[in-house]
Amino acid sequence: MRGVIAFVAVAGASLGMMGGSVAQSDPDPARNSPDRQSWELFMTVNANVAGGGNNNALFESWASDGDTFRTSPVWPSGAAAMQIGPRALSLAFQRAHPRFTPEVLPGGAALVGEETRRNKPDFDFIVQNNLFKVSGLKTAFAASKPIAFPVDSMEVKANWVEVDRLKEFNGFSGTPIEAAAAYHVNSTGGKQYALVSFHIISRLVPDWTWATFEHEDNPGRCDVIGCKDSFGAVDAYVAPLSPVESQTHYPGCAKTPAVLALFAQAHVDPAFANYCLKGSQSNFTDSSGLAIRLGNSVTEQSFVAQSSCMTCHGRAGFDADGRPTTSGGFDPTSIGAPPGTGNAPVGPINSSWREGDPMRFGLPADFVWSVPFCAIDDATEPPETKSRLCSSK
Ligand code: HEC
Repeated sequence: MRGVIAFVAVAGASLGMMGGSVAQSDPDPARNSPDRQSWELFMTVNANVAGGGNNNALFESWASDGDTFRTSPVWPSGAAAMQIGPRALSLAFQRAHPRFTPEVLPGGAALVGEETRRNKPDFDFIVQNNLFKVSGLKTAFAASKPIAFPVDSMEVKANWVEVDRLKEFNGFSGTPIEAAAAYHVNSTGGKQYALVSFHIISRLVPDWTWATFEHEDNPGRCDVIGCKDSFGAVDAYVAPLSPVESQTHYPGCAKTPAVLALFAQAHVDPAFANYCLKGSQSNFTDSSGLAIRLGNSVTEQSFVAQSSCMTCHGRAGFDADGRPTTSGGFDPTSIGAPPGTGNAPVGPINSSWREGDPMRFGLPADFVWSVPFCAIDDATEPPETKSRLCSSK
C-alpha cells in the first residue's frame, strides 16, 4: 500500500501538481483534441517561408508527387514550382464505378487542379526505402517488414482553381487583387490560382491525424455530412442543408478566440483566416460503433457520403507484384455501403474473413496512398521514369 501511495505522489509531481492545482498538459492532443491539433498543423504547414516567391507557405516548398515518384527523386531547391494536375481520385473512382457519370468539366479543362506535398522526413523515408518504385514495393512485400513512417512526417493535398475561373466555381466576381485578399493565391505559367481546399495528415499517432479544410465560400461546403469544428468555429456543428451534394452556400465559419489566438502567434498569409476546418478524423467509428465519415466537398467530390479518410487510406497497400490491392481504395466494401443503408463495414480490414490460417495478400503502406498509387513501374521494359497518374501533381 505504501508503495502505491509513493507511486501516485511521484506521478502527480511529474504531471506538475502544485499546491492542489493540476497542470493542463495533455499527453495525447492528437487523440484528445483532434480539432485543436488540426489547427496547430494548419499554422505549421502554412507558415510563411522566406525566399519562396509566390510559393510562400511552408507546404508549397515541400516535395510534390512528381518530385518523389520518378527514377531519381529530388528534393526541390529554392522556390518550388506549382505542380497542379487533374484530380487522381476522380479517375480512380470512375475506373471502379464505370456507371458513374464523370464530372462535367466546363470548357473541357478541369476546373479544379490538385497537388500533393510531403515534408523532408516523409520524402526521405520513401526514398531510402525505395517506396517510389514497383521493384522496391516487391522487395518490401517479400521482406514483410511493416512500413512505419517517421513520427514527424506530414503531407498536404491541395486543390486550386484558376483565379479567372473562380466565377464558374462559386460565383466570385471580384478583381484579382480582391481574390488575393480572400484566397491564398499562387501562380504558375503566367496564371494565378486560388487555394480552395486542402487535407493535412501527420504521423503524430500511428494511424496518422486526418484533417480537411475548405475556403469558406466553397459551394456545398457542409452538404451531406455537415461541418464539425469544436475548437476553431463558434458554431461547432453546422448541419448539412442538403442531404446530397449541391451548390448550397453556407455562412462563413466565425472563429473562436482560441483559434484567433493561434492566428495571432502564427506568421501566415492573412487570407488563411478565410478557411474553415470541415472536420478531423481520429478513429474509424464513433463510440456508438457507427462508421465516421469525413470528406471534402472538392477533393472527395461525388463520394462525400461514403468517404472515411482513415478507412480508405487504411486500405492503401500493395501485393507481391508491387501493385495496389484496390483501385485507389474504391472497391465494393472499402468505403462503405450506399449512403443511408447504415451497414457499412468499418475499419481497414477486408470483410471477407475466412476460416483457416490468415494469409497476407497485401502489405499496408502505412495509410499513405500515394505509395502504391504513384510508384513508378520500373519492372516493365522500357521502365517508367515518372508516374503516369501522379507526375504532374
Ligand atoms: C476512397 C478513398 C479515399 C478517401 C475516402 C480519402 N482518400 Fe486521400 N487519397 C486517396 C488516394 C487513392 C490518394 C493518392 C492519389 C491522389 O493523390 O489522389 C490519396 C491521397 C491523399 C493525400 C496525399 C498523401 C497520400 O496519402 O498519398 C492526402 C494528404 C490525403 N489523401 C488525405 C485524405 C483525407 C484527409 C481524407 C478525408 C477527408 C481522404 N484523404 C479521403 C484515397 C482516399
